[in-house]
Amino acid sequence: MKKYVVLILSVGLSLGAIAKEGMWLPQLIAQLNYDEMQRMGLQISAEDIYSVNQSSLKDAIVHFNGGCTAELISNKGLLLTNHHCGYSQIQKHSSLEHNYLKDGFWAQTLAEEKPNPGLYAAIIDRLEDVSNQVLAGTNQSQVTEKRDSIINANIKGLLAKLKEENPALSYEVKDFFYGNQYILIAKKIFNDVRLVGAPPSSIGKYGADTDNWVWPRHTGDFSVFRVYANPDNQPANYSEENVPYQPAQHLKVNIAGVEEGDFTMVYGFPGSTQQYLPAAEVENIIEVYNPARIAVRDEILSILDAKMRVDEATRLRYASKYARISNSWKRWKGEILGIARTDAIAKLKEEEAAFKMASKSNPKLKGKESLVTELADLYKKRMPLSLERFHYIEVGYFGIESFRYALGFGALIAAAEEGDEAALTKAAEQAAKRYQSFMKDYEYQLDLQVAQAILPMYLDAVSTDLPDIIADLKGEDAEDRQEEIEDFFEDALFLHAGFEEKVLDNPKSMAKKIAKSELYQLSRAMYDHYFAVIAAGLSEYESAIKSKQAEYVAALPIAFPEKPFYPDANSTLRVAYGQVKGYEAKDAVEYNHQTYLSGVIEKYVPGDYEFDLPQKLIDLYESKDFGPYANEEGKMPVCFVATNHTTGGNSGSPVLNAKGELIGLNFDRAWDGVMSDMYFDKSICRNVMVDLRYVLFIIDKLGGAHYLVEEMDLVTTRPGQDEDSKEEGTQQNLPQAG
Ligand code: ARG
Ligand code: GLU
Repeated sequence: MKKYVVLILSVGLSLGAIAKEGMWLPQLIAQLNYDEMQRMGLQISAEDIYSVNQSSLKDAIVHFNGGCTAELISNKGLLLTNHHCGYSQIQKHSSLEHNYLKDGFWAQTLAEEKPNPGLYAAIIDRLEDVSNQVLAGTNQSQVTEKRDSIINANIKGLLAKLKEENPALSYEVKDFFYGNQYILIAKKIFNDVRLVGAPPSSIGKYGADTDNWVWPRHTGDFSVFRVYANPDNQPANYSEENVPYQPAQHLKVNIAGVEEGDFTMVYGFPGSTQQYLPAAEVENIIEVYNPARIAVRDEILSILDAKMRVDEATRLRYASKYARISNSWKRWKGEILGIARTDAIAKLKEEEAAFKMASKSNPKLKGKESLVTELADLYKKRMPLSLERFHYIEVGYFGIESFRYALGFGALIAAAEEGDEAALTKAAEQAAKRYQSFMKDYEYQLDLQVAQAILPMYLDAVSTDLPDIIADLKGEDAEDRQEEIEDFFEDALFLHAGFEEKVLDNPKSMAKKIAKSELYQLSRAMYDHYFAVIAAGLSEYESAIKSKQAEYVAALPIAFPEKPFYPDANSTLRVAYGQVKGYEAKDAVEYNHQTYLSGVIEKYVPGDYEFDLPQKLIDLYESKDFGPYANEEGKMPVCFVATNHTTGGNSGSPVLNAKGELIGLNFDRAWDGVMSDMYFDKSICRNVMVDLRYVLFIIDKLGGAHYLVEEMDLVTTRPGQDEDSKEEGTQQNLPQAG
């Protein structure tokens, strides 16, 4: 804990520095960032952003189902997030007759809003530094395992005590700066969250995978939900009794538009980043891990794409799998380019050299000179095993669909071996159900082709302590491998018609046959090898790496007292700030900060699965029926970019102006700068947002749901504008409106 106090103090002294990056803890903004934010244009107080004593903007920020962010935009619990965040809920309510993914959906009354069992919305009650309590009884010299067990016991005790004091809240303790700091998160969890509206996918997912991570962008990536509470305005499970939640605070929506240079702030739940890796590990990622993972996915994606382009049924079955596989694949490629383009490795090495110098001259950093070298060494030694790990994950776990599916027969096989009849019947029923849902979106030939393409990549990559079935296949030549893989697929009963009846009729003999099938055995062997050899081997490095990283991040602010440091993203509430700004994409290519509906129309390809458009949008464009949402020139804004430091999990985050009013909905980053998870460079790192004017235009004009807009508080002047009118003195002597 003492260490962290030093860290905060030294950071606190560095207010003069310009933060070019960062995902900051909202409760520390007053201390660390507020002066700079004000200089950049912020007009509200730090207490307005985060406070435990009064309502603040944080009361309007929602962690949406644990993975995305959302925000409350009316006093009746209206909730805004991305289309891709609400996608599975929209999908679940869709059928052939009511295809909401295709046609969009707008509830006309509260009664038409659709419940979503399992979906939850969490609102932060307070954040509290509990490092002292968590670290009590530990000291630096203790071995990590023992230290961990003390820490875990302390956390458990703390959580139990809090739950007893106030059972209405949920509690969690999170680790920051590799365990230098622990923060308690107290939150309210709402389990009745209903779907209110969504645009058609041709708007909400416009440009799909081709435009994913791309700027200039033209996607209306939003959907609308509502949080419900019990009649006392407290969280409750779904009930007809429930009423719209009245939040302590909701965001005002500003439709006066943005200009280049405007202050912006993103308030949300970024998932994970790796900002303090040594150059050596960034090199591993860029030169070894990313290329290996990309190579596997290149194969999968090209096989899927070839079939999806010519077969409509395949396209429907595989669209969302394709989107998932291509999302990270594309980001990894962008990371490689961004690291090269910004010369990040060389710059990180310079920073490391500076750290070494500082350690030599600063008595507080005695013994830290070799820290980076030691850390780099650990990462280098870990590399071969890490590479095996990525190959297993990409091939055996996520790549070959039937391999992952096969792993699920463990319970059936165990029940048969134990001779437990009741368990066997139950497992057989489960197996039959799993077969059905797996087959719904599965194509045997495609999966076989994928397996033949990527299993050899795994076989060539693994070498440590291989079980026979893997070693044998590894030893074969390319042609034999292909034949074997085909045989494995043919012999796997659970991939063929009739399995369902057979497993229900005769579970015992089917369990035996599955256990004997080579596809099952191979997948199982790969899985077991992963845990017994790969993960176990890696764990030997993990604690050493974590404690060296902890030492490093604690030493950095001592070495560079003028530089502010922020903790890596870890799915906790953060604030990033920056300004609206285009960028130079490459030599002679300059990107503007804003796109317009005219650009949506330019990309339109009738009938295409990524770039088709609803006729109504085209009609609205042609008649220029934009309501109050167009800019002064009569153009309809769609998306914009800014310099905020964001990552996965920030999807759906509100983007706020200088007055804390909602101007944008975050949904992506620009490809050229996605290496910001490891290395942020303000010249090309940009977050991508839908302009709130486009969101409202679609809700109002395309969806015909004007009543939703009426629920919101709209602001029609830019933060600068009312400042001007004040300066002119027109209203200076009038009493302030309440
Ligand atoms: N790139 C965005 C993110 O990381 C959007 C992903 C969803 N869209 C897609 N085409 N896969 O979540
Ligand atoms: N689309 C991402 C998400 O779902 C946000 C983009 C990013 O990685 O910055 O959270």
